Amino acid sequence: MTHPNRPVDGKRLPGDSVDHALRPRFLKDYIGQDRVVENLKVLIEAAKQRKEALDHVLFYGPPGLGKTTLAHVLANEMGANIKTTAGPTIERAGDLAAILTHQRAGDILFIDEIHRLGRPVEEVLYSAMEDFVLDIVIGKGPAAKNVRLNLPRFTVVGATTRLALLTAPLRDRFGAVFRMDFYDQSAMETIVSKASVKLNVKAEDGGVTEIARRSRGTPRVALRLLKRARDFAQVRSDNIITQAVADECLSGLLEIDQLGLDDMDRRVLRTIIENFEGGPVGLETIAASISEEADTIMDVIEPFLLQLGFLDRTPRGRVATRRAYEHLGLSSPPRQEGLFDGI
Ligand SMILES: Nc1ncnc2c1ncn2[C@@H]1O[C@H](COP(=O)(O)OP(=O)(O)OP(=O)(O)O)[C@@H](O)[C@H]1O
Ligand SMILES: [Mg+2]
Repeated sequence: MTHPNRPVDGKRLPGDSVDHALRPRFLKDYIGQDRVVENLKVLIEAAKQRKEALDHVLFYGPPGLGKTTLAHVLANEMGANIKTTAGPTIERAGDLAAILTHQRAGDILFIDEIHRLGRPVEEVLYSAMEDFVLDIVIGKGPAAKNVRLNLPRFTVVGATTRLALLTAPLRDRFGAVFRMDFYDQSAMETIVSKASVKLNVKAEDGGVTEIARRSRGTPRVALRLLKRARDFAQVRSDNIITQAVADECLSGLLEIDQLGLDDMDRRVLRTIIENFEGGPVGLETIAASISEEADTIMDVIEPFLLQLGFLDRTPRGRVATRRAYEHLGLSSPPRQEGLFDGI
């Protein structure tokens, strides 16, 4: 079962428009991810001083945190052209070769979902990234010839939600690797508040706080919830997103609770608690019992539950923590008392 329109999903959904106006264009406008931003400043400054192309950069982390946005920010900061592609789009080595031969010095090639590149494609990328050469085979059979072409110094910016699926050689070719974290409450409030100005919707502080708190530290979710609250305010309350309006829309209509959990998250937790005595239970088993894909749980549900400290990953499977019991208003079973000490 998939949920194409789960409002708290960090992934891009069919209904999401790309709001270029809402995307920060330069580092100075970028809110949050301070550690990443500081590092990028140094990287950019150093490359500019040396008049060189930027080092290859890899961003990884849950969906919707700003990896694509940062790739474009890098291009803007460097005054470079950016070409966007994605792992599954580059089917054959020849497709990549065609892209690479069109790169000019300093250009950025953004490869989204880079963990989904096919092996032959990846191998072409190795030498392109490391030595700026393209090794291609021309012709077939005994007449085939290896040809080596020189490429200008360009930059690969990669993005992935699954770092573990990247092969070691590919990962090693990135000079800088950054983990994107969920945003803290204050960064989320700033993002919501700035977006409300750009969307021309009036939101009171209480409304902003309410939306920010339920957005799972994910800007894409915040923008989506803000738009839903805007619609709600338009129909029900003079176009102003007050705290009460935000609460009514998010809790009542969308069933997103105070911490940003929706029905799916609660189902995962309840399953672990009610069907498996709190765990440990394997991901596949959880997935099967709620008719969901294990990948979906791993990508979009689990990271946030781990972040909240509601779930623990142990070698024997997932365990619901005492916090999860408390949040759902359940008392933890006596035999598990003590198991969660220190959590
Ligand atoms: N720091 C930020 N400040 C304001 N808005 C942001 C910020 N980061 C991301 N956004 C907004 O959040 C949305 C999602 O960002 P983006 O597309 O860059 O995420 P992503 O990490 O590439 O996600 P995915 O893994 O799904 O590709 C965009 O609409 C962007 O405008
Ligand atoms: Mg993206």
